[in-house]
Amino acid sequence: MRVLCFLLLGFLYEKVSGDRSFTIDDANNCFRKDGDCFHYISGSIHYFRIPACYWKDRLLKMYMTGLNAVQVYVPWNFHEPQPGMYIFDGDRDLEHFLDLTKELGLLVIIRPGPYICSEWDMGGLPAWLLNKQDISLRSSDPDYLNAVDSWLSVLLPRLRTRLYNNGGNIISVQVENEYGSFLACDYSYMRHLYHIFRLYLGDDVILFTTDGNTDYELKCGTLEGMHATVDFGPADNAKKAFDLLRRYQPTGPLVNSEYYTGWLDYWGESHSTVSAELVSQGLQTMLEMGANVNMYMFEGGTNFGYWNGADYKKTYKPITTSYDYDAPLTEAGDPTDKLLALRSVISKFLPVPQGPMPPPTPKYNYGYVTLQKVGDLQDFLDILCQGGPVVTRYPVTFEDVKQYFGFMLYRTRIPWEIPDMAILSDPFNGVHDRAYVSVDGNFAGVIERDHVRSTNVTGSSGDWLDVLVENMGRINFGAFFNDLKGLVANLTLGGDLLTDWLVYPLNIDGLIAEGWPHAPGNHIVMTTQTESHEGPVIYSGTFRITAKGDTFLKLIKWTKGQVWINGFNIGRYWPDRGPQVTLYVPGNILSTAEINNITVLELENAPDRLLVLLLDRPILNGTNKGV
Ligand SMILES: *[C@@H]1O[C@H](CO)[C@@H](O)[C@H](O)[C@H]1NC(C)=O
Ligand SMILES: *[C@@H]1O[C@H](CO)[C@@H](O)[C@H](O)[C@H]1NC(C)=O
Ligand SMILES: *[C@@H]1O[C@H](CO)[C@@H](O)[C@H](O)[C@H]1NC(C)=O
Ligand SMILES: *[C@@H]1O[C@H](CO)[C@@H](O)[C@H](O)[C@H]1NC(C)=O
Repeated sequence: MRVLCFLLLGFLYEKVSGDRSFTIDDANNCFRKDGDCFHYISGSIHYFRIPACYWKDRLLKMYMTGLNAVQVYVPWNFHEPQPGMYIFDGDRDLEHFLDLTKELGLLVIIRPGPYICSEWDMGGLPAWLLNKQDISLRSSDPDYLNAVDSWLSVLLPRLRTRLYNNGGNIISVQVENEYGSFLACDYSYMRHLYHIFRLYLGDDVILFTTDGNTDYELKCGTLEGMHATVDFGPADNAKKAFDLLRRYQPTGPLVNSEYYTGWLDYWGESHSTVSAELVSQGLQTMLEMGANVNMYMFEGGTNFGYWNGADYKKTYKPITTSYDYDAPLTEAGDPTDKLLALRSVISKFLPVPQGPMPPPTPKYNYGYVTLQKVGDLQDFLDILCQGGPVVTRYPVTFEDVKQYFGFMLYRTRIPWEIPDMAILSDPFNGVHDRAYVSVDGNFAGVIERDHVRSTNVTGSSGDWLDVLVENMGRINFGAFFNDLKGLVANLTLGGDLLTDWLVYPLNIDGLIAEGWPHAPGNHIVMTTQTESHEGPVIYSGTFRITAKGDTFLKLIKWTKGQVWINGFNIGRYWPDRGPQVTLYVPGNILSTAEINNITVLELENAPDRLLVLLLDRPILNGTNKGV
């Protein structure tokens, strides 16, 4: 009986909202919303790159620009960090984010993946998938599909009542992402996803695919039953791109699902910018053609913590902490000239809401903070790795020990006397991604994937050889997805294989979240320290503020590392490599009532004066220095 009631309620619900409809009109090449021909002008925003308390502010600014929709990815690995463990609260509260879009009168184009690229770690796929050896990602491999199915069985039902036809504001749903760029070209995988999406979302929702505008990509990425769309930027010829799309999608609305307003940055390359003029002209051209456009990104945000991805183009290329993207709203959510230029184009096609654009939020110059050395990272192994090390003959990976992010220390004893120098070498290019080497606590150098394949060491038989390995972000695009981290191959010393390792997975974030190293009682270790500022060292400091707001952290003459403020991991810094010089510090993590705590893990070299600066503006275009 109870079953019948539920069924009946479900039926009534769908009937009541039956006058709402969002469909495709193939005869007139447009979307139809409640019967009327409809075009969207949308912008991408990633809730996972913005603190939740700022979501509404950013969405309001998008609404005030005249957008009628927003496009949103859902990163699987953000919500299911361990198999079967789901997080949908705080900064991961997708449903709260969707509630806000609805409250502001914005429609939603949602892109649940399971793969999303997005310059996000592993393109949104959880690294724990790699625990199954040789898993074939983004394919019909049953191990991959089982994990996908169970994730989608959790995610998609949360979206169902939010679909436009069911009374919500989600007008369309993308399946996979740029699948045509992936060499597998596995139609049965795409067909499987299609059926799963239909199973949970119903037959009447618009499903679509997005691909680059080449024949190969459109051939492998599109599938019967899903509306094909393309992505391209202002430098591309819109007419040519849409003409090509028409060969695969002869009828229905033309859609550019990712019209690039800017571009991402890699460490060691120049900062990307695209002029407001070019971007707004390109938008106008497409709108004049009657196309639907989503601007990627409209608000880029930040790769906090360890979430940045990497590309692999001849070499491994990690993406910066800032995902500002030179987008119309800055990383800190402020309107730019580009936004105003786009708004004036939009106003020729759609009524733009009256009233002023919210002004930039205040930014604070809190000044210098002096840090102190807490200790060498190696001094804290017992508290950073409370379970003790993994004892192993050959190196194991991060994934092997189920530590998916951050840092692990690989320790072995130098097997013989090295009176002069011996070469510690990475003959198989197995350092994923950067290693900080020391002998008996003395820093010896760095090994870097694809770039620096050895370093010289000296020492005595029995000395500890420590290799701290940093995971700098998993590859998010292309063919090399099975990007295991740590030492994924053996190292040699003077040509001989090193064996018998102690591997310490380091829970730095967990410890810092508990108040370390600021909490009283933690400072005793300081007396035993050397004054050396070389190699991996923890520093900390405190500062007080009287007014709270966004600020930007500049680590003057520091080299490379990770920063936490009040327990929140604000990301990687690497001013030595550039182009990003300052880190965005969202005001919500600061406190006016209490002392603010800053912790820095510097991996290579701290300056003589242990100063950092909290500045009122970002510097994202510092000089870039290759390897
Ligand atoms: C390592 O030592 C060799 C000779 O032993 C030398 O040619 C090389 O420049 C040294 N490398 C570094 C990075 O110091
Ligand atoms: C290290 O070398 C040994 C012996 O050749 C081999 O069995 C092992 O698989 C290698 N380990 C890694 C991680 O490559
Ligand atoms: C900073 O650390 C101190 C000592 O543990 C703690 O009392 C204080 O609450 C922390 N401040 C913030 C803003 O979390
Ligand atoms: C960096 O950007 C700022 C602000 O847009 C600009 O004033 C400055 O000239 C730029 N610097 C370089 C080196 O391009």
